[in-house]
Amino acid sequence: MPARSSAPGSAFLVGEHAVVYDEPALLLAVDRRATVAVEDADEDDLPDSAYVREAVERTRLYADETTPVRVEVSSDIPVGAGLGSSAAVSVATLHAVSRQFGAPMEPQEVADEAYAVERAVQGKASPADTYTSATGGYVVVDGDERRTVDAPDARFVVGYDGGSAPTGEMVDGVARLVDRNPVASDIVSAVGDLSHDAVESLESGDLEVVAALMDMNQGLLDALGVSSSSLSRMVWSARDAGASAKLTGAGGAGCVLAYPATDEAQEAVAETAKEAFVVSPAEGVRSE
Ligand code: PMV
Repeated sequence: MPARSSAPGSAFLVGEHAVVYDEPALLLAVDRRATVAVEDADEDDLPDSAYVREAVERTRLYADETTPVRVEVSSDIPVGAGLGSSAAVSVATLHAVSRQFGAPMEPQEVADEAYAVERAVQGKASPADTYTSATGGYVVVDGDERRTVDAPDARFVVGYDGGSAPTGEMVDGVARLVDRNPVASDIVSAVGDLSHDAVESLESGDLEVVAALMDMNQGLLDALGVSSSSLSRMVWSARDAGASAKLTGAGGAGCVLAYPATDEAQEAVAETAKEAFVVSPAEGVRSE
């Protein structure tokens, strides 16, 4: 019997990019998942994914195990599009392989190991996507602090333009801007301030304030140069239908997140998106 585990994607309510500069960010796990199946094999049979390979190696060290394995990955999370697809694959791989080796990792351990995988493969990265995928629900990442937030279930529209952009290049672009222009670092701090407010508002159940802060965050992300014409089109489709909206993740291309998830907002986003779907806070990594 193969060990099979799945892990959710994640979306930023607020705070992407600024989180790389140790500002707080607020995320939710979304109910699109990566599933990983692992079984013993005569020799290693791994997909051509640096995340999977690194996750398998780290689990070998963790479990002190050398048995060869076959690993299969399937996922309905758009790749490189701001929904934490690589984090979900890393998280599900660590969980499934550690179970196959008879040394199952707890979600907290999976979160730590998955963050190490992302750093090894990607260089500069925050623990935001990996922690959210491991624990599920709403998550705050603030410097060294990572915790889940108790808040009402809510539905959000995701619009996907069908494109992708490399996270590393988007992060480097912001770094160049911050190096050259002190106003850019003020913008990063302003994102941190609004993330603080968003966490407080979410904890008190005031999603209207969170929505207003999402709109404000989109303006600041645009100022940091990480939006695009197709992301802006989806954002404005949602807004014209009365919702708040922003890009999620690294930007450049990929996904936007809109709230509230009215039928009008979903239909409006669908008109300018390749695909529009509704998400709500999802369970973290789990055995299947
Ligand atoms: O687009 P994603 O899912 O790779 O998210 C990137 C989020 C950043 O804040 C830009 C980088 C990070 O590591 O947090």
